[in-house]
Amino acid sequence: MVSSSFLRQLFVVLVYVSSPVALAAAARKTADLHTEPGPAARKSPSEKAAGCRCVALTFDDGPDKRTTPRLLDILSREGVKATFYLVGSRIAGARGVVREMRDEGHEIGNHSWDHRELTRLSPERVLQEIRSTDEAIEAATGARPQTLRAPYGSLDRAVRKDFKRPFIAWDIDTLDWKYHSVSRITATVLSESRPGSIILLHDIHRTTVDAVEGIIDGLRSRGFSFVTVSQLLHPKG
Ligand code: NI
Repeated sequence: MVSSSFLRQLFVVLVYVSSPVALAAAARKTADLHTEPGPAARKSPSEKAAGCRCVALTFDDGPDKRTTPRLLDILSREGVKATFYLVGSRIAGARGVVREMRDEGHEIGNHSWDHRELTRLSPERVLQEIRSTDEAIEAATGARPQTLRAPYGSLDRAVRKDFKRPFIAWDIDTLDWKYHSVSRITATVLSESRPGSIILLHDIHRTTVDAVEGIIDGLRSRGFSFVTVSQLLHPKG
C-alpha cells in the first residue's frame, strides 16, 4: 500500500531529479539577484494523490517591508494560508513582517541566506547558508523552518544529502519576476493549476501582490482551496 503522503514526497524528489541543467545556466544569465527562472513543465500529483482539490501558494525572496504587508492583509482578508520562503539576509530589516506571517498562520520556509546558487558553493558554505537563515527565522518566530527551497531551484544530490528536511520545488512558474503583468500572472496560475500544485510567486514585486486577489478568486471559483506546503505534504488523516 503506497500512502498519498509518500507519493507527494516522491513528487518533491522527482521534480528535483528532473531539474534541467539548462535551468542553472539560465539562472546565471539573470541580472536580478532575486529572480528565479522556473524549471520546465512538470507534472503535479494527481487529484487522488493530493487527497483534496488543494493548491499551495508560495512566495519567495522576501520579506519586503514595502510589499509583503499588503500581501499579508489580502491573505488575511481572504482567509488564505500561504508559504513564504525567506531570504535570511532580508529578515533583520523586516522582523515585524516575519512575526506577522507567523501570527497569521502562514508557513515560513528557508530560501538560503543571500540567494546564491547552492550547487556552486562548497558543502560548508551551503550549510552556513541554511543554518544562518534557520537562526534568523527562529530568532524572529521561535520556530525552525520545516521546509527548504533552493534559489533558482538549483539543486543536486550533493547539496540535498546534508539535509533531512525536504527541498520544495514548484510545478507552476508564473515568471512574475519577469512579466510584471497582473493579467499574465493570473492567467498562468488559473490555466495551469491542478490539485496538489505548488505555485511559485514572489512577494517582493508589487504586480504580484496586485494579482493575488484575482488568483484566489479564480482558483476558488474553480473549486480549489488553499493549504501550506507542509499541509500538502502531510495532510491530516
Ligand atoms: Ni528565489
